[in-house]
Amino acid sequence: MVSGFITFEGIDGCGKTTVANLIAERLKQEGIGIILTKEPTDTWLGDAVRRSYAEDIHPYTEAFLFLADRATHTDWINEKLNNGNIVISDRYSDSTVAYQAALFHQNFGNPMPEYVKWLQDVSGPIIRTPNITFLFDIDPEVSLERVGNRGEKEKFETLDNLKLVRENYLAIADEYSHFRIIDATRTIEEVTEEVWQIINQEL
Ligand code: TYD
Repeated sequence: MVSGFITFEGIDGCGKTTVANLIAERLKQEGIGIILTKEPTDTWLGDAVRRSYAEDIHPYTEAFLFLADRATHTDWINEKLNNGNIVISDRYSDSTVAYQAALFHQNFGNPMPEYVKWLQDVSGPIIRTPNITFLFDIDPEVSLERVGNRGEKEKFETLDNLKLVRENYLAIADEYSHFRIIDATRTIEEVTEEVWQIINQEL
């Protein structure tokens, strides 16, 4: 296995964070240099992002904060990759494309693909294309039930919104060959095993 950049994407409650932790643990046990990171990040930029979605801020302000956090995060990721690590990011660029396109559509009305395209264009210079992106695909009705079990719902976690976010994710996945769509309705063990097999085959 060589170094590589892997991102985990999906709607809220899809299980990606749990699987990312299990995969990172397994890679560590194999003696592989592995950095597990996430977005929003644990920096002041990530704090600004979290503050933006806790408050009801202008959707474009929020989008630019996500992008600002990402630009700096990408530099940090590049450094870790150059040192020979595998980097796994729990959410990355496709989260902004999928979530903010849904939000823009709801607020400003143009068709979602227009916003998807704009967000992809603006993201171009500040991202690194992952070697693999796992899209944890799940029906929002199922994922919301899971989220409901863990307490308070966040701003983006409504059925109508998550349906749109899922639609965007599937459209993006269709467009790029580094996407692997994972059926996230199965057990954590089954999903983890499939992700593990793919990583072993492809890196
Ligand atoms: P999430 O990864 O779910 O954080 P946590 O595990 O702490 O709840 O991300 C928080 C929310 O932010 C989630 O609903 C998805 C949303 N989000 C965006 O809308 N755009 C983005 O670019 C990112 C990274 C997240």
